Amino acid sequence: MAQHPANTDIAAALAEAQEHYRARNPRSLAQYEEACDALPGGNTRSAIFVDPFPLTMVRGEGSRLWDADGHEYTDFLSEFTAGLFGHSHPAIRRALDQALDSGINFGAHGPAEARFARAIRDRFPAIELVRFTNSGTEANLMAVSAARAITGRDKILVFAGGYHGGVFYFRGTGSVINAPFEFLLGTYNDIEGTRALVEPHRDDLAAIMIEPMLGGSGCIPATKEFLDDLRALASETGAVLIFDEVMTSRLAPSGLQGVHGIRPDMTTLGKYVGGGMSFGAFGGSAAVMEWFDPRRQDGFQHAGTFNNNVLTMNAGYVGLTEVYTPERALTLNAFGDGLRERLNGIAAAKRLTMQFTGIGSMIGVHMTDLPIRSAADAAHGNSALLDLFYFDLLAHGIWMAKRGMMALSIALDEADADKLAGAVEEFAATRASLFKGTRS
Ligand SMILES: Cc1ncc(COP(=O)(O)O)c(C=O)c1O
Repeated sequence: MAQHPANTDIAAALAEAQEHYRARNPRSLAQYEEACDALPGGNTRSAIFVDPFPLTMVRGEGSRLWDADGHEYTDFLSEFTAGLFGHSHPAIRRALDQALDSGINFGAHGPAEARFARAIRDRFPAIELVRFTNSGTEANLMAVSAARAITGRDKILVFAGGYHGGVFYFRGTGSVINAPFEFLLGTYNDIEGTRALVEPHRDDLAAIMIEPMLGGSGCIPATKEFLDDLRALASETGAVLIFDEVMTSRLAPSGLQGVHGIRPDMTTLGKYVGGGMSFGAFGGSAAVMEWFDPRRQDGFQHAGTFNNNVLTMNAGYVGLTEVYTPERALTLNAFGDGLRERLNGIAAAKRLTMQFTGIGSMIGVHMTDLPIRSAADAAHGNSALLDLFYFDLLAHGIWMAKRGMMALSIALDEADADKLAGAVEEFAATRASLFKGTRS
């Protein structure tokens, strides 16, 4: 690891780390410049952009990734939770090969979707019936639209820091291209504030949509009391309670709803559940989902060319039933809990204003030692220090999201955990002086 002479000033240290990054990645830079020709800012997916330019990854295998300049990384991002199986898992690959052998794009029902749907129903008991989409965003669009149509109401309660897809962005100041629903924006983990917010709109509340742990906003778990109260609020008002478990369903055999013993009316899924292919699903009680029964005269239309695409249907089935079994979900998440504890131990030993949040296999990195229960709490973190952490860990061969997010795959092992802990220890040792005066 290079020495860090600029350790008296965060801005100087960051500038130096970025210079090192630039010098070490000329092929990624060239690739990025080429991408700018036909993609706005060289990008087609906002979450993965990195200033001054993003790395281009060219190969993955197991828990490893390689970039265009030949550097090897241990993948602690796992495609923002979708890459749970690691790269090219043999069972998933077999499922895809077999599907390709029989042809794709039939424009018809196939056997795979029914089998996969039953596997999902068996795994998530609140999902009595399910429908497939191509992304988590689309699953949430369908769930919210269905809730509005069923209740005949307009308001959707969501929470600051929530992310439910490209048109459901409630991080920071939100997004002007959000879907034009009438949102009420609550504060995460604030029972009284949420009740006060909803009170004037009780009769017009169509849905409550929540991630049972804020994922993209820093792996901030909801308390059981808060989720229990939302369940009660939905039942009292007649609103549809939607748990967005697109990320969190991986955290326990039946997702966080299973952990808390809460039965939402609807659940949305995505990411790894499709075996690493494009995927989304929305499901719930038979009473809600039967609106999508095409035999019903007054039923809802829900088309989608790729809803039952055979690659996803086959990879997802094998992933859920053969690879990420309930037992494997427990061991992966226990591994994550142990790793988080170890990383927090490193921060505590050096008395750094740094903490690692989350549950099981999802880890959020924050440069503050204040308690974090909401997105506003997380905003106290020092963002320049977090950027520095990202560039320092990259230099150590650790791949994570720049916003401070990690997700573990089943391909990672104890040696990988040691590598991450070693990189964090070195960051803590070499950068300790930069933390002075950052306590908020
Ligand atoms: C909680 C949550 N919901 C929905 C989505 C959207 O899923 P997709 O990217 O498949 O549209 C995401 C994606 O990160 C997510 O984290």
